[in-house]
Amino acid sequence: MRLQRLYVNVDHVATVREARRTDEPSPLEAAREAEAGGADGITIHLREDRRHIQDADVHAIAAAVNTVCNLELAVREDIVTLACALKPYQVTVVPERRDELTTEGGLDLLGRRDPSLRASLRRLDEAGIHVALFVDPDLATIDAAKDLGVPAVELHTGRYAGGGRDSDAAFDELRRAAGHAADLGLAVHAGHGLTYENVGPVARIEEIEELNIGHSIVSASLFVGIRSATARMRALMSAARA
Ligand code: PXP
Repeated sequence: MRLQRLYVNVDHVATVREARRTDEPSPLEAAREAEAGGADGITIHLREDRRHIQDADVHAIAAAVNTVCNLELAVREDIVTLACALKPYQVTVVPERRDELTTEGGLDLLGRRDPSLRASLRRLDEAGIHVALFVDPDLATIDAAKDLGVPAVELHTGRYAGGGRDSDAAFDELRRAAGHAADLGLAVHAGHGLTYENVGPVARIEEIEELNIGHSIVSASLFVGIRSATARMRALMSAARA
């Protein structure tokens, strides 16, 4: 099986910094340490409310990573404009609500079509950015993503990661969705709520070529540092495919 990429999301390093609105800890330094621990990319989410990552972080990280930068964003004019100017390697488009603790679901591509989504996707594509749409592992939604002409989807693993009795059904849904997306020629990414305990089965799904993991790695990094925390996740992912 091919190696699966690990992109480390460093948003919550900025969350700690913003708790005091000071300059430490630095998400850029965290990104460098994550890379030293084996991260294949660095993910950051510039939220509309700027609750963690700030514009200056996006500039610094996009310019300084040795791997690649995956910028998560909601389709807002100013943020899409920033992305088109900075040209990170990848943009993952997510839905965003101000009152949510974290991204709660995938994009709704089946309801009323948002004309700004199509326009933003065109702008990002013209800027040469690889675009993924964050979607629930739902076959019709994946078909809609394909219709929008993007090269990739990121499957929301939240239902699987939520555990409980639902977890087996959620895993089957994820596996089916990954197969369906790959059959359509889409690159398949996944993430949300993945931890050291639950990553193994997802890492074994062959069609999933990239995982985006943040909270669990940043949490572990309090005790072992982000380099080791990243290396441990990397090792689990590789072992799952061995
Ligand atoms: N993927 C997307 C699209 C996300 O919005 C997030 C959270 O920022 C993640 C992955 C990472 O989730 P977690 O922090 O739970 O690992």
